[in-house]
Amino acid sequence: MSEIFTPVRVGRYDLSNRLVMAPMTRSRAGDDDGVIAGYVADYYAQRSGAGLIISEGVYPSASGKGYVSTPGIETDAQVEAWKKVTDAVHAKGSHIFMQIMHCGRISHPSMQPDNALPVAPSAIKPAGQTWTAIGQQGFVTPHELTVLEIQGVIADYRATTRRALEAGFDGVELHAASGYLPEQFLSNGSNKRTDEYGGTIRNRIRFVLEVLAAMVEEAGGDRVGIKISPEMNFNDVVDDNPQALYWELVEELNQFDLAYLHLTRQGTPEMNYHTLLRPRFRGPYLMGAGLNKKTAEAAISAGKADAVVFGELFLANPDLPERFQQGTTFNSPDRSTYYGGDEKGYTDYPTLKVAEPV
Ligand SMILES: Cc1cc2nc3c(=O)[nH]c(=O)nc-3n(C[C@H](O)[C@H](O)[C@H](O)COP(=O)(O)O)c2cc1C
Repeated sequence: MSEIFTPVRVGRYDLSNRLVMAPMTRSRAGDDDGVIAGYVADYYAQRSGAGLIISEGVYPSASGKGYVSTPGIETDAQVEAWKKVTDAVHAKGSHIFMQIMHCGRISHPSMQPDNALPVAPSAIKPAGQTWTAIGQQGFVTPHELTVLEIQGVIADYRATTRRALEAGFDGVELHAASGYLPEQFLSNGSNKRTDEYGGTIRNRIRFVLEVLAAMVEEAGGDRVGIKISPEMNFNDVVDDNPQALYWELVEELNQFDLAYLHLTRQGTPEMNYHTLLRPRFRGPYLMGAGLNKKTAEAAISAGKADAVVFGELFLANPDLPERFQQGTTFNSPDRSTYYGGDEKGYTDYPTLKVAEPV
């Protein structure tokens, strides 16, 4: 049997296999109320063959929203809708962590309360555009958070962690990848602060560590994970010494006894971050991005990862674990239905034909 299908302990939980469904924004919530549609529970339940599901990014406060029709978990209606998801996944015997995603400057006033400016560590406009309810719009120069406001954002992560647990999630993942707010603090291209949150690496990692401390106080380290993506350079976030930055960050993560470290992207040909950082982290290691069955199995058997994370393959193949086991082909993802829409391209990907009983 493939080692992917052996059980593994991740934080507080014994997962039935080492397959993890990647967090994927699918924009199936009401744009006004941030409440996920009823069929979202079906989507996650269909993919419960994974030992662990990481939910799409959920904003920790209205100002953390950066994409149209993405969900929140602030209001009672939002929490109630998520309960249906966690119940459905648990009924199928799987586990689900909620990803907390604050987009920071990767947003637009049209998505912000009172059309305010998005927030960031520094007032630096990212290059590029974003899709909004009023069409394609250029990013704007964000509002630089004051120290007091930073404390407010951290409090939002704490409250969101509490609400995620109330909604039945097994844990929470801090989205510190892909150029969103936590990575904006980490990286010296987007963080030019001169106070205790900017400058040295020690100062730039402070925000992430304080957010994690708050989340861990609510949930316990064994119900908190973190996702990072060194040198992905997505959303115009760059750092001029990422090896040193992540080397120090990961060492500091060890103090929290986290459920896992989730790292996507191998890095550059010169620098394989899995090789660099996996030995540095004392805890379960989730490897993601660009994997297939063969590379995932190789990573597990070589001890390079404890679990393997699949995005697009899981999106298009609700029964991915079964397909891996049977060695069959895969459905292709329909990229036109990734973000927004309805059940089409969401809950209607076919599973393998079940043999008729004779
Ligand atoms: C439609 C879509 C939405 C995504 N949304 C998120 C997200 O909300 N949070 C996140 O951390 N990553 C997000 N990702 C990135 C995935 O988690 C994953 O890292 C990426 O797809 C690479 O893995 P793969 O090669 O197995 O697809 C998204 C990817 C896709 C395809």
